[in-house]
Amino acid sequence: MKEAEEEFLKYATPYEKYGEKIELKIKHTMRVKKISKDLAESLNLSKEDVDLAEYCGLLHDVARFEQWKRYGTYDDLKSIDHGNLGYEILKKDHFINRFTKKNHNTILLAVKYHNKYRVPNTLNERNRLFANITRDADKLDILHLVINGKLAVKTDNTIMSNHIIKQLKNKTSIRTKDVKTKADEIGVRLGFIFDINFKKSYQMIKEHDYINRLIDCQKRETKNEELIKQMEELRTFVNEYIEEMITC
Ligand SMILES: [Fe+2]
Repeated sequence: MKEAEEEFLKYATPYEKYGEKIELKIKHTMRVKKISKDLAESLNLSKEDVDLAEYCGLLHDVARFEQWKRYGTYDDLKSIDHGNLGYEILKKDHFINRFTKKNHNTILLAVKYHNKYRVPNTLNERNRLFANITRDADKLDILHLVINGKLAVKTDNTIMSNHIIKQLKNKTSIRTKDVKTKADEIGVRLGFIFDINFKKSYQMIKEHDYINRLIDCQKRETKNEELIKQMEELRTFVNEYIEEMITC
């Protein structure tokens, strides 16, 4: 694992000349790798499978560096799907071999599907497990970044759209393409909660108080009373859901 991490840094660090946003993704990667390990251990996976979860975490955002270099943005809708690009980068000339010689298909699928709205039904149980670990770990770290001010939504004077509130109340996560207002982006983050796969992930969300901190931090960004009211309603609803998922 140490060697793979060194290989990753050897690959990613030279991209730092394209701007400070590169370092953000390197740090995000290292945290996602660690969270993936914690989740895999909580599932009592074998040592080899815990390692595999770490490889998925280490490589999940491998395309972010090329994405930033080519397009100057991390917005997939304005550039390229970074899950698909990561899959291509790792496959090309067997680049993935630089990191590990085993379980290539499982890692490639976790990279490809970590950022999709849903994991396709065609994935077998094992590949789905590792894709889901990667997805949860990624979401947990995005929540961490939001509350630490790195990804907080800078709201304008908008409120969350009705269709977003409705989807959240239906316990459904939000598609980025359904975002119509700046405030809807807060809905996307809150909607993560409805696309979490493991009890341990919910426990970690509760432990770090991510939802309350996220809403508090977003409340500081707005003066719109209507949006504050929407967030307060969602605070209660989402926290109750987390509690339900922990105790079920
Ligand atoms: Fe990603």
